[in-house]
Amino acid sequence: MKILMVCLGNICRSPLAEGIMQNMAREKNLDLLIDSAGTSAWHEGERPDRRSIAVAQKNGINISNLRSRPLHRSDFDEFDYLFAMDLQNLDDLKTMAETDHHLKKIHLFLEFAEMKVKEVPDPYYTTENGFEYVYQLLNDACEKTIQKLQVNNRINKTIQ
Ligand code: 4NP
Repeated sequence: MKILMVCLGNICRSPLAEGIMQNMAREKNLDLLIDSAGTSAWHEGERPDRRSIAVAQKNGINISNLRSRPLHRSDFDEFDYLFAMDLQNLDDLKTMAETDHHLKKIHLFLEFAEMKVKEVPDPYYTTENGFEYVYQLLNDACEKTIQKLQVNNRINKTIQ
């Protein structure tokens, strides 16, 4: 199972979502491949925002080795799920999709996770508190997504 987390810059929200999901998959021995990308190439090659690195670190997750990359057309073939952080990301993903098969892979992340809140707000112009809130939202959404995929028998356990 391959999951792509998508936001605008691929430096704040989606690298954090990638790190959290990867960490959970490792802890639960789940066969999940997680990556992240931006709908823009504005920060291509950059490491995540220092505030995302810090809030991840505080929770025992290292995302400092990740680098921003823009979304590629091939991502729609490569990944099983493309999760958008907000409605603008969702719209941009849908515009880029070329087939119905691609469209079916695109979801608003928090909606898929059946959360009360629908969007992961862009924390770029906020403070550490904004990143803390984003972390909690993403952490809950990752838990719920894994549960949902497991209930639907969509993820295999890795062989130990
Ligand atoms: P992200 O946050 O989409 O969560 O990575 C942003 C990062 C950079 C900008 C906007 C949002 N920016 O305007 O440069």
